[in-house]
Amino acid sequence: MMKHTLIPASEFATRRTRFFEQMPENSIALFNAGREVTRSNDTEYPFCQNKNFYYLTGFNEPDALLLLIKSDQNKVVLFSRPKDALQEVWHGRRIGQELAIQEYGVDECFTLDQIDELIVDYINAKTSVLTCVGENEAFDHQVLKWITKVKSQSRNGKTAPATITDCTAIIHELRLIKSDAELDVMRKANHLSGIAHQRAMKQSAVGKFEYQIEAELLYEFAQHGARYPAYGTIVAGGNNANILHYTDNSDSLKDNELLLIDAGGELAGYAADITRTFPVNGIFTTEQKAIYQLVLDAQNIAIEAVTPNNTLAALNSLVCDFLTEGLYKLGILQGELTQLIEEKACKKYFIHGLGHWLGLDVHDVGDYQSNEKREQMRAFAPGMVLTIEPGIYIPLNDLSVEPKWRGIAIRIEDNIAVTSIGHENLTTTVPKEIAEIELLMSGSTSN
Ligand code: GLY
Ligand code: MN
Ligand code: MN
Repeated sequence: MMKHTLIPASEFATRRTRFFEQMPENSIALFNAGREVTRSNDTEYPFCQNKNFYYLTGFNEPDALLLLIKSDQNKVVLFSRPKDALQEVWHGRRIGQELAIQEYGVDECFTLDQIDELIVDYINAKTSVLTCVGENEAFDHQVLKWITKVKSQSRNGKTAPATITDCTAIIHELRLIKSDAELDVMRKANHLSGIAHQRAMKQSAVGKFEYQIEAELLYEFAQHGARYPAYGTIVAGGNNANILHYTDNSDSLKDNELLLIDAGGELAGYAADITRTFPVNGIFTTEQKAIYQLVLDAQNIAIEAVTPNNTLAALNSLVCDFLTEGLYKLGILQGELTQLIEEKACKKYFIHGLGHWLGLDVHDVGDYQSNEKREQMRAFAPGMVLTIEPGIYIPLNDLSVEPKWRGIAIRIEDNIAVTSIGHENLTTTVPKEIAEIELLMSGSTSN
């Protein structure tokens, strides 16, 4: 049984087959696993596998290397850590070479310390070496060294590949389109993350610290199988939410302020990325309500427009016009409306993009096909998953607006899968309507 994944082993084989199909004849692709990263002295951060390597293997150990060898008969070779009784007593079990062959569908598996000895014959006489150039500088050098080693044996009849091919785009394009099994995992990651957001709403109270609410989220993630968050959890009270990637989470929660939470669990490697903004004390003020409803309406307009062949550029334009008009009506933007729309005046307060691809990475891979104006022109297609996350951020020190607006920062973020007829909103288990949030926070619902 493959551990750490909810994706069947057969799907990893299918992914490798798809990759093989795009390799040049008689070539070899090298994928490096992630490494453990030191936190301090002799302690490490929780291990996170390299996501390209993971996509092709489901193998969740550091210090491993995958070779995809394309010839008359394609071959999959893994190098991994050796079984080692002492190391395993101290640091944990290792899969080892035998199990890797039995359970991970590789044809051959060797220990990593055999690589230098064996790599020459794998690379010899291939026309091209494929690797994700630039992903890891040390590995790029290692690949060059191996090629050089083959070259140095030319008098023994070895021939080194004439080209190194960057295969980043191939693997990224595969990852961009999610399979049914991936969508199912992402649905689950979203489901559990939404429940965690609900818990955070219920636990919010004046005087608590942001990190206490973070702990509630992490607790709920883990209760549903997501031991780690997919990215640094953002719990930002009041003006802290004007820092987009605020992860200090160290302040106390204040009465009449909002709390912005951007948090998602990682389930079997797949990220959820959900943001909710709600009043610390459970009741929106008039000004908070006004901005919140504007952001929510903008989000709903954008979500409705997620259909095959539409683009993030088109959605951005819709949302930008809508927010500009809304901010104008509230008196936050002043001037002539048509000119404000022309100038995309909302960008003063909507300071980031509308969304991004989501998958094994929170900011997932895949070309946005941005044009020279940096508009994202990629046509949506079934199987893509993206976030829709408009926001309005009014810093405390913005003297151009009335004091009542200052310090309000609101983002609402859902995860949307493109389907053949439109879209599916994966974020279904946490409310976002004002009345629903206030009801949940009042404690008078059993949800
Ligand atoms: N959580 C980071 C983002 O929303 O892009
Ligand atoms: Mn996001
Ligand atoms: Mn987010």
